[in-house]
Amino acid sequence: MKRFRRLRTSQALRTLVQETYLNPQQLIQPFFVIEGAKKKETIEAMPGIYRYSVDLLLKELEDYTRLGGQAGLFFGIPDSKDPLAKESYSKSGIMQRAIAAIKKKFPHFIVITDICLCGYTDHGHCGLIHNKKIDNDKTLPILGKMAVAQAEAGADIVAPSDMMDFRVKQIREDLDKNGLTDVAIMSYAVKYASSFYGPFRDALHSTPQFGDRKSYQMDYANKREALKEAKQDIEEGADFIMVKPALAYLDIIALLREHILNPIVAYSVSGEYSMIKAAAQKKWINEQDNVTESLTAIKRAGADLIITYYAKDMLKWNKLLADGS
Ligand code: PBG
Repeated sequence: MKRFRRLRTSQALRTLVQETYLNPQQLIQPFFVIEGAKKKETIEAMPGIYRYSVDLLLKELEDYTRLGGQAGLFFGIPDSKDPLAKESYSKSGIMQRAIAAIKKKFPHFIVITDICLCGYTDHGHCGLIHNKKIDNDKTLPILGKMAVAQAEAGADIVAPSDMMDFRVKQIREDLDKNGLTDVAIMSYAVKYASSFYGPFRDALHSTPQFGDRKSYQMDYANKREALKEAKQDIEEGADFIMVKPALAYLDIIALLREHILNPIVAYSVSGEYSMIKAAAQKKWINEQDNVTESLTAIKRAGADLIITYYAKDMLKWNKLLADGS
């Protein structure tokens, strides 16, 4: 007789037949960087996540790398924002200084940088504005300059998240022209216009001052577009393809896994973090179990890497398990 429960009888057996494993070293922690010194600011909508000035960021990275963290995704928050996002590519910009400091102290740590104008423009949109519209083609050279500035400061991977058409092509060409041929591109190819980004915009002070992001981010009702975006970005030179958000988009991750060969990165975004955190704080769910289950599901759907605000916690929990405590 066939009996499914036979292989579920003990933990050892269950481990033997486990199909999907989470490797905490394939998780990527996002970090928010601000100007100044000795600053560690709380983010109300994201308990446990902070904005760090560069000196304290380096301290935090000491912790993170000691636990086994190998990669981080960095967002800069400049003091001054303007319509043209000048701080995004200035040599003395917050990100460029942070990257140089990180690579000096942790030369092997993989620095991934977000490329987008929304944290740098005073209007909070991801592109330049012309006649009250987001101007795709005028935005491209700024994104290219931002990528070159970050790569020159030492970034290993640049991650465009703005959703302008042809930005990957522009960034690849600009990097190559400047001799930065080894810098990889992790494209937020499949990025939906999502309410799950709410807490992040609080963290970055990047809520758009007018309108929304629906003219450039994708409509969450659509699936075929995901494959078209991913294929186009690969043609333009993307090394990694990202899907964002993650947990509500497992069908999209699975679809891409079937059709593309590049590593797939899933971004489990701020809203996903904050929902689990809030429920856990109320003791309505078990945080560690829920995070492990959620991340395993994202992996099972086909993601190779996962960007998650729980990366450091996962490393910590894993270490505790390994130490047997
Ligand atoms: C920048 C960007 C956003 C996120 C990553 N890069 C916000 C947005 O598009 O509004 C969201 C990340 C998160 O919610 O954790 N465009």
